[in-house]
Amino acid sequence: MVGWRGMVGSVLMQRMREENDFALVEPVFFTTSSVGAAGPDVGQGSAPLLDATDVAQLAKMDAIITCQGGDYTNEVYPKLRAAGWKGYWIDAASALRMKDDAIIILDPVNMGVIKDGLARGVKDYIGGNCTVSLMLMGVGALFSAGLVEWMTAMTYQAASGAGAQNMRELLSQMGTLHGVAAPMLKDSASAILDIDRVVTDSLRSADFPKKNFGAPLAGSLIPYIDKELESGQSKEEWKGQVETNKILGRSGADITPIDGICVRIGAMRCHSQALTIKLKRDVPLDEIESMIREANDWVKFVPNHREDSMRDLTPAAVSGSLTIPVGRVRKLNMGPDYLGAFTCGDQLLWGAAEPLRRMLRILVE
Ligand code: HSE
Repeated sequence: MVGWRGMVGSVLMQRMREENDFALVEPVFFTTSSVGAAGPDVGQGSAPLLDATDVAQLAKMDAIITCQGGDYTNEVYPKLRAAGWKGYWIDAASALRMKDDAIIILDPVNMGVIKDGLARGVKDYIGGNCTVSLMLMGVGALFSAGLVEWMTAMTYQAASGAGAQNMRELLSQMGTLHGVAAPMLKDSASAILDIDRVVTDSLRSADFPKKNFGAPLAGSLIPYIDKELESGQSKEEWKGQVETNKILGRSGADITPIDGICVRIGAMRCHSQALTIKLKRDVPLDEIESMIREANDWVKFVPNHREDSMRDLTPAAVSGSLTIPVGRVRKLNMGPDYLGAFTCGDQLLWGAAEPLRRMLRILVE
C-alpha cells in the first residue's frame, strides 16, 4: 500500500477495514516521507514503514495499490517494470490509464473486461476518472445494452476532485463571504442589494482566498477543470469519451461519442451530472427504469418528482455513501429517442477508492 494517508488513501483504508479486506492479504505499508515510522495496525500488528521509492522492496510485493498520485507512478512504475517485476499494479492516478495494456477498473460495469485482462496476463489495473466511473455506475446499463448513440454529460463537480486543500479553501471562501455579510444578515431590515454588493466586492477582492482554485468557487462556479487541450475541450471533458469507451472495451468503429462541459461547483465530495442521451431507438421509460434499477446493487432510481429529487438526488444526500441515485429521467422535447437524466455520486468512494479495493478482492478470491 502506497499513498494510504492522503485523502483517497484514507477513504480506501476506511473501506478496506469496513470490509475486512486486510484479512485476505499480508499488507505491507510504504511511505514517501516517514521511512521506519510505525505503520498502521490493520489487524496483523504494526510494522515499520518501508521506503516507497525502494524498487527492490517494492519488487517483493505480489500487488501494489497506490493512491500516491501520478508523479509517483511516473517515477516508480517504469523502474519497477524495468527491474522485471511481474506483480499487479493497482493505481488511483490517471498516469497509466490510457496505456494499451492497462485496464480501467469498474467491476460492476466491466467485470468481463477485467476477467479477460486477467486471462491475457494484463498486470496494470487503473481506477477511472471519477466523473466517468460515477456516470457508468448510474447509466452504464444503457451503454451495455447498446442503446446509446451519443451522450452529453454536463457536470457539477465537487471540490474534493481538486484535492484536500481545495476542500478547505472552499470552506474558507464560504466563511469569508458569510463574514462580510454577517452584520447586515443580523438586521432583518437591511437591503438585500446592499448585502449582495458587499458579497460581490469580496468575491472580486484581491485578498479573497483562492490560491488553490485560482478563482472564487463559493458564491460562484468555475467552468473549467484540468488542463486546456487543443481540441477546445478541457482534459476532464476529453476523458469522458476515451475512458468510457475504454472501460466498456470499445474501440474503432464501436466508439460511442461522448462530450460535454465540466464545471466545478461548491459541493464538498459529490460529483453530479446532467446527461442527455440520444437513444438508438425509442425505448419506453419503464424499460429504461428497469434497466437502470437492475444494473447493480448501488444504483438507486429516483422517481422524476420534485420531492424525491430534492430529497435523494443531491450531494447532501449522497455524501459518504456508495449509493448512486439516478433521477430526472424523462424524454426530452427533441423527440422520443432523446433521454434526460441526472445522477450524483461520492467522488472519493465509487469515484476513486472503491474500485481499487474491489480489484484486490478479484485478485485474491
Ligand atoms: N479530475 C477530477 C476532478 C477528479 O477534478 O474533479 C479525479 O478524477
